[in-house]
Amino acid sequence: MKKTILFYLLLNISIFSCFGLDPCCVQPCQNRGVCLSKGSDSYECDCTRTGFYGENCTIPELSTRIKSFLKPSPNLVHHILTHYKWIWDIINNISFIRDAIMRYVLTSRANLIDSPPTFNSDYDYKSWEAYSNLSYYTRTLPPLPKHCPGGTTALPAAKDVVQKVLLRKRFTPDPQGTSLMFAFFAQHFTHQFFKSDLKKGPAFTKSLGHGVDLSHIYGETLEKQHKLRLFKDGKLKYQVVDGEVYPPLVKDVQVEMHYPPHVSEQQRFAVGHEAFGLVPGLMMYATLWLREHNRVCDIMKQEHPDWDDERIFQTTRLILIGQTIKIVIEDYVQHLSGYHFKLKFDPELLFNQKFQYQNRIAAEFNTLYHWHPLMPDAFHIQNQVYSFPQFLFNNSIVTEHGISNLVESFTKQTAGRISGGWNLPPAVQGMATKVLEQSRQMRYQSLNAYRKRFNMRPYMSFQDLTGDKELALELEKLYGHVDAVELYSGLLVEKPRPNAVFGETMVEMGAPFSLKGLMGNPICSPEYWMPSTFGGKVGFDIVNSASLKKLVCLNVKGPCPIVSFKVPDIQFPSLTNVNASSDPAGHRGINPTVLLKERSSEL
Ligand SMILES: *[C@@H]1O[C@H](CO)[C@@H](O)[C@H](O)[C@H]1NC(C)=O
Ligand SMILES: *[C@@H]1O[C@H](CO)[C@@H](O)[C@H](O)[C@H]1NC(C)=O
Ligand SMILES: *[C@@H]1O[C@H](CO)[C@@H](O)[C@H](O)[C@H]1NC(C)=O
Ligand SMILES: *[C@@H]1O[C@H](CO)[C@@H](O)[C@H](O)[C@H]1NC(C)=O
Repeated sequence: MKKTILFYLLLNISIFSCFGLDPCCVQPCQNRGVCLSKGSDSYECDCTRTGFYGENCTIPELSTRIKSFLKPSPNLVHHILTHYKWIWDIINNISFIRDAIMRYVLTSRANLIDSPPTFNSDYDYKSWEAYSNLSYYTRTLPPLPKHCPGGTTALPAAKDVVQKVLLRKRFTPDPQGTSLMFAFFAQHFTHQFFKSDLKKGPAFTKSLGHGVDLSHIYGETLEKQHKLRLFKDGKLKYQVVDGEVYPPLVKDVQVEMHYPPHVSEQQRFAVGHEAFGLVPGLMMYATLWLREHNRVCDIMKQEHPDWDDERIFQTTRLILIGQTIKIVIEDYVQHLSGYHFKLKFDPELLFNQKFQYQNRIAAEFNTLYHWHPLMPDAFHIQNQVYSFPQFLFNNSIVTEHGISNLVESFTKQTAGRISGGWNLPPAVQGMATKVLEQSRQMRYQSLNAYRKRFNMRPYMSFQDLTGDKELALELEKLYGHVDAVELYSGLLVEKPRPNAVFGETMVEMGAPFSLKGLMGNPICSPEYWMPSTFGGKVGFDIVNSASLKKLVCLNVKGPCPIVSFKVPDIQFPSLTNVNASSDPAGHRGINPTVLLKERSSEL
């Protein structure tokens, strides 16, 4: 802390001496104590329920001392969960231990999220406006007050940060074996709640559901939903191409979608999210969920021949929300975590806990989820290779290859590693610059401030942060002091955990937001979580047995393709080189690290 203060002092001597400075600007209150200024020369720290006391909330209470003594470090917990497979094989089989661990995972993570929400990008203190105005993303750490110095003035140009430490030099594959099937799921799933309203600014969202509401399938307004619905048996509108179901055309349903002018009328598919024409991976998932919706409607119709269109539609939507959460926890987060512990989606685990069934999406969650390093340099589909420009806004790829082939190709292609620096595809560098500029506009606190907020120790040096000399040197040239490193660039340059896609901060920050958002959904609450909510036992079973594999296999014609968030071990396709053999079989048995070494010796 002393260093931070010194840093601000050095940078802002002139401002300090010209105005009576708010004493809270130096953030004297530690351990989440709240600072209240009292004129320009005194302040008070509110240490209520922080577990600390004293002028600056720095002295731990006895119970805090004991807890911190007993609490293992996040890295140790991660190590245990990702090693000792034989022990986990046993624990996963003993249901009461598995339940207890899962309950602990959920509560310990979700407890880190303020609920009800507190701040937003315009209010760094609690206020009714900040609580009640749903157009804002919430904020986990309040913005640096506008009258305080520091923050954006001393930072390097966003463009320089992107070019010097983020931009890909050569493709680094994810050692966890994450597939593009995962990458597109992430993009598709998160866009239902990350939907900045850029007309108003980056602090605002258009997705007022603030969570898993499936607005990316059904539209964010009732008007759009109605245009997408068939109004028969609960179903959504569709078209048939080569005997398979695809989303309807924009010209037939008249909903707003974002396509550039060169895209022909026949290729303008209409789905719940207006931006999902961007990449075939998104349209593939949109198609799968559309088929799933109509499939579940048929089952509901059979179960309840007396139900009208509206009841079938609404019940099916709840079932799909349940399926989504199940898949996200047991397939998606399971893969991402790399844990040998088998995660479990079971809302009942929280019924005897203090838990608020509500959620507000945080701006910081949106910022940290810009996982663009996952994107490869080119896309391998069957025996074709598509460059970025060929791939973008090209729905004909979806219908020409068909869903089954897309799934199999995306499952076989390895995604990029997210943390570790220098792995951002050049095609999306403009986006990264914007994320940095928007974080500054919203007056984000530093990476180290967020580390403290999520119970991690602040990094002491650039080497400590990156674990890489060359990268540390570049960062130092940009930021000068490690306490000045911003959240987004910090997350992308952080040293990854061994053989993992992320560093510590991404996981320790991301998991609480994610689990709170999933379990805080109303369908997980005691009043909702019962068979009747989902159309009876049949619907409840659909929720409780959902998986990525079923989502695909029950919705494609013919045999089930290979489908996984992890590239199957036996087969790694060529990774980046557009000119490389496009026959994945040619690379059978080669693991990506070897391939990378080969490539670097080529260069
Ligand atoms: C509390 O913080 C202020 C400002 O950082 C510092 O001047 C003061 O000495 C601290 N008080 C204690 C008791 O540590
Ligand atoms: C433990 O799990 C394995 C597979 O995960 C299963 O084959 C085995 O029957 C289980 N054993 C017990 C005792 O439940
Ligand atoms: C939320 O805040 C924004 C910005 O102050 C304002 O334009 C908007 O009208 C508010 N929304 C509501 C519902 O009050
Ligand atoms: C779109 O994909 C098709 C293959 O389905 C390809 O022939 C075409 O060149 C691509 N379009 C563009 C603009 O690259």
